[in-house]
Amino acid sequence: MNCFQKRAYINGEWVDASSGKTFPVYNPATGEYIDEVPDMGEAETRFAIDAAHEALKNWKNSSAADRSHLLKRWHQLLLEHKNELARILTTEQGKPLAEALAEVKYGISYIEWFAEEARRIYGDIIPGQDASKRIMVVKEAVGVVGLITPWNFPNAMIARKIGAALAAGCTVVVKPAEATPFSALAMAFLAEKAGFPKGVINVVTTSRPDEVGAEMCTHSKLRKISFTGSTEVGKILMRQSAGTVKRLSLELGGNAPFIVFEDADIDAAIRGLMQSKYRNSGQTCVCANRILVHNSIHVHFLRRLTEETRKLKIGNGFEELVDIGPLINDEAMLKMESLVGDALAKGATCHTGGKKSALGPRFYEPTVLSGITDEMTLCKEEIFGPVSAVSSFDTEEEAIRMANNTNFGLAAYFYGRDIGRIYRVMEALEFGMVGVNTGLLSTVTAPFGGIKESGFGREGSRYGVEEYLNMKYICIGDIK
Ligand code: SIN
Repeated sequence: MNCFQKRAYINGEWVDASSGKTFPVYNPATGEYIDEVPDMGEAETRFAIDAAHEALKNWKNSSAADRSHLLKRWHQLLLEHKNELARILTTEQGKPLAEALAEVKYGISYIEWFAEEARRIYGDIIPGQDASKRIMVVKEAVGVVGLITPWNFPNAMIARKIGAALAAGCTVVVKPAEATPFSALAMAFLAEKAGFPKGVINVVTTSRPDEVGAEMCTHSKLRKISFTGSTEVGKILMRQSAGTVKRLSLELGGNAPFIVFEDADIDAAIRGLMQSKYRNSGQTCVCANRILVHNSIHVHFLRRLTEETRKLKIGNGFEELVDIGPLINDEAMLKMESLVGDALAKGATCHTGGKKSALGPRFYEPTVLSGITDEMTLCKEEIFGPVSAVSSFDTEEEAIRMANNTNFGLAAYFYGRDIGRIYRVMEALEFGMVGVNTGLLSTVTAPFGGIKESGFGREGSRYGVEEYLNMKYICIGDIK
């Protein structure tokens, strides 16, 4: 079966834009044209929302066992096609093939998890004040949901939203990022083969995300938006959704601190940092952004980090043993050059990298900078590239103050062995997720999400499905 699709999927049909317009998608490693997809806008988005709304009645009233069964069939097909899905992902996103396969498996784990969770959506019976009354709480699907997903995880970010939404009985309109529509379409193709009824899953492709997003936010039949992307866009969606008072889940930008205390196992901290910092070439919301190392181990730590960073192999994700793929586009390269240029101009020291690679216009050399200070832009913004920015601290209080000195609150990490300090620091960090002696937090069983300007709502885990459920309180009176 060939999963590669190049038309959008609305109401169970593979369709073109009503204007017939398309837009091209390019491979970020080579710059080569991959193919094109329909360039849809407001009208097609409305049509998809209407189709999802039409399908909602039957879908939300279907049994949990039926929804679970379909999700399991989809899970099975995704597993059978994991290698092809990984190849599509590397072609459009650039990450090394082994990482793409890991992402596909990570995504598939959410479909399996929510196939199981569909059968565990419980309500409550509450003892009443009055002997003639009975109180119950039932959970109902929120309705039609818009899923707006990013290019950095073109498979997994769809999977962890759609699995929960479908399990809860919601129908969906997915808008994948314009750089990576083919992973979304391949997933929809396998969902169709699994037998989801028409209109339950719709995928709208567009090069005009503002137009499609605005239609989703203002349409009264669409009752919730789940978005993963930048804080800037999250705020726009929030404002646009106010008119119809939609529910929102927002997984926005991060600015993760990675603290290494003087009693840390340095080898373990380096391993954790390499995973956290360089996964997906540094293009994740939970990548270590500000590396804070105790003064007494700073020199040794920097030397070890520089050695390990120099070992990373950059290249096309289809080449063997590549660790670092390309940045997603030319704009990302300009941002990397500007962030590093700004840091160097303000006094940072470069230990390795610090420039574009000779491999091509979107390859940036894995970089280690030290002497990072608060005035540097990369301290305030998500770097989103393979740049390690290291500074030092003297006391625990100073490390906590530096770590919390950001408007973001997604992920934080720290390494140390003292049990008292572990409790103090994990409680003091103002973030939605904290990794202690680990650089990898993401897993299907845990609630992924942030606080402050990193957004709200949780994905995955037993909490994930609640985002797609409304609570209804029912009071039965006059019981004699
Ligand atoms: C993200 O970067 O938004 C998600 C990363 C993850 O799930 O680990």
